[in-house]
Amino acid sequence: MDWTVQQIPPQHGQRAVVTGVGGLGFETALALAAAGAEVILAGRNAQKGAEAVRHLLRMLPQARARFELLDLASLVSVYSFADRLLAEARPVHLLVNNAGVMSPPQRQTTADGFELQFGTNYLGHFALTARLLPLLCQGRARVVNLSSLAHRGATLHFEDLQWERRYRPWAAYGQSKLAMLVFALELQRRSQQEGWGLTSFAAHPGFARTELIPNGPQPGPVLAQLNRWVQPWLSQSAAQGALPTLLAATEPQAQPGAYYGPGGFFEIKGPPRRAKVAAAAQDLEAATRLWAESEELTGAHWLPATGVTQ
Ligand SMILES: NC(=O)c1ccc[n+]([C@@H]2O[C@H](COP(=O)([O-])OP(=O)(O)OC[C@H]3O[C@@H](n4cnc5c(N)ncnc54)[C@H](OP(=O)(O)O)[C@@H]3O)[C@@H](O)[C@H]2O)c1
Repeated sequence: MDWTVQQIPPQHGQRAVVTGVGGLGFETALALAAAGAEVILAGRNAQKGAEAVRHLLRMLPQARARFELLDLASLVSVYSFADRLLAEARPVHLLVNNAGVMSPPQRQTTADGFELQFGTNYLGHFALTARLLPLLCQGRARVVNLSSLAHRGATLHFEDLQWERRYRPWAAYGQSKLAMLVFALELQRRSQQEGWGLTSFAAHPGFARTELIPNGPQPGPVLAQLNRWVQPWLSQSAAQGALPTLLAATEPQAQPGAYYGPGGFFEIKGPPRRAKVAAAAQDLEAATRLWAESEELTGAHWLPATGVTQ
């Protein structure tokens, strides 16, 4: 039987943090709130955040949902958000590292000088997860990282992680999504070794209709027309695209360290299933190196008791 939101077990008493208030993030938060979780929607735009919460509460008047400001393209903002949650001293049971940007045509950088996609999609979430570790340990949390079909064929460009020499938008997007999958698998291994008690998963939505493409590559007129005609056949709704994430986040039978995506042709759409993990994502040496470089770049340390990073 195909897995649907009907299978989400009751989430009462669970505190969930979802990054990104639009597209898949909204659908993920909505389904979790519908199952009874308290949901914190974290995003960079306060107006969009307030609107997302209003929209959610219109659909689910009894839901417990609030917005918090989090700009993943700024480590100051990431640590400030995490520190506000640490100050509340309440366990986090679920962290969905969902927010992302795709393929801006020109190289852009975050407030800390990282290439925008590597910085936002990956490093920001790495730093956030590290800082929240005490709350995640307390909640024996599940952490779900959003990857993509684009991780296949991508490489970790260690000689130039920030694409300073020659920026290639798609390759940079692929690297950021490969990094998210490598991070998810390594987090599961480290949690097991260190006894942190959290479990880590990855998910991808196939091709889901969201704002990712309109906000990203800005296709020329030919590609735009092609996208317009082909998209309805090849894509699925944002709600369907959120199912692999929701399965990873809530299904009791989900395998720690597993990667979920749509089960249809080439994992583009369809009900959620285990997804294919490219060989590059299973490279243990690369995972160790990426973790070390990410700690150095972000100043994050994985301290389960205090979360102090500097
Ligand atoms: N849609 C797909 O087919 C697809 C396929 C593979 C993977 N994914 C992954 O799925 C995730 C969600 O994407 P989506 O499809 O839902 O796209 P979306 O509709 O564009 O949503 C992305 C969300 O990320 C937020 N965001 C961007 N930069 C941020 C920052 N610096 N700080 C905080 N939030 C930020 C955006 O905020 P604003 O609203 O302020 O822009 C938006 O809410 C991404 O990680 C993406 O790589 C999507």
